[in-house]
Amino acid sequence: MSIVAKRVLVTGGAGFLGSHLCERLVARGDDVLCVDNYFTGRKDNVAHLLGEAHFEALRHDITHPLFVEVDEIYNLACPASPIHYQFDPVQTTKTSVIGAINMLGLAKRLKAKIFQASTSEVYGDPSLHPQPETYRGNVNPIGPRACYDEGKRCAETLFFDYFRQHSLKIRVARIFNTYGPRMHPDDGRVVSNFIVQALKGAPLTLYGDGSQTRAFCFVDDLIEAVLRLMAAPDHVTGPLNLGNPQETSVAELAELVIALTGSRSPIIRRPLPVDDPVQRCPDITEATALLAWQPTTPLKDGLTSTIAYFDRLLGDRTGGTASTVTAAA
Ligand SMILES: NC(=O)c1ccc[n+]([C@@H]2O[C@H](COP(=O)([O-])OP(=O)(O)OC[C@H]3O[C@@H](n4cnc5c(N)ncnc54)[C@H](O)[C@@H]3O)[C@@H](O)[C@H]2O)c1
Repeated sequence: MSIVAKRVLVTGGAGFLGSHLCERLVARGDDVLCVDNYFTGRKDNVAHLLGEAHFEALRHDITHPLFVEVDEIYNLACPASPIHYQFDPVQTTKTSVIGAINMLGLAKRLKAKIFQASTSEVYGDPSLHPQPETYRGNVNPIGPRACYDEGKRCAETLFFDYFRQHSLKIRVARIFNTYGPRMHPDDGRVVSNFIVQALKGAPLTLYGDGSQTRAFCFVDDLIEAVLRLMAAPDHVTGPLNLGNPQETSVAELAELVIALTGSRSPIIRRPLPVDDPVQRCPDITEATALLAWQPTTPLKDGLTSTIAYFDRLLGDRTGGTASTVTAAA
């Protein structure tokens, strides 16, 4: 290893994905600057890194310019779940668009390589399954999800204009459903919802008949792909779909969570919301060919470590682990 560590900026570094990325970068010897405004991220997510000589955290909102000296930038800052990104939609668009302009400007000045965490939501309500990167999407520009979907689409536009106009080294990943420890417990996503409900002994809410499928990527697999994309030759700009193409029905997921938590929670059914897609699944042919990557963590293993995390988290809030509290109740 070189004695001069690479200086890496991670925006959104105290969030779910960002904290795992910071951990991996610190472990391999990079000098990491984590920037976050703590809107959805938590200091606790990176508290274990604060004692490391090559890690520092800075409270900053990326809608404002940032003047630091780094060699690489990972731009992850943006609330990712509908509950959070619809809370203040104008701020969400600002974070995606003005945040991207600020980070791209910084990368241009420093001649730094820059990664953008884009999303499968750029495909909107797709008419094609699974979606290849060439699919241009079907997004409603004036709907309640547009602040996120269109914000991320505009960020992609900016990245490719900086690439063409300023020869910037860019990497763009379209991330699909990812789960794992440090997900936000109240973000309304199906994995965290089911786990929290099961650990609390509350009924698991299943929408529709549960036959709709989702494809879940474990966070370690996702971060591995992000690091490989960043290390790929400069002509590999993306956009690249990153996710796990293994589909699971929501009903199967509910059964698995109940089995792995040992919960006695019942499953209750609710009507399917109108905008609930029947299928969400990435086509990762490109990522597999270009990065020699595919997810390797079985759903059962990923869920087991995610459940252990939520059990500790809920236990800290109630005193005792959530499963012991549930058992006592
Ligand atoms: N988790 C997924 O399944 C998923 C899927 C697709 C895309 N993504 C993208 O990956 C990135 C990380 O997602 P996540 O799941 O870790 O979400 P997260 O909400 O846990 O992390 C986002 C982080 O960005 C911070 N942040 C938000 N606005 C900011 C601002 N203006 N300035 C500075 N920091 C700000 C938040 O406090 C948080 O720590 C996001 O850009 C998201 O759009 C995630």
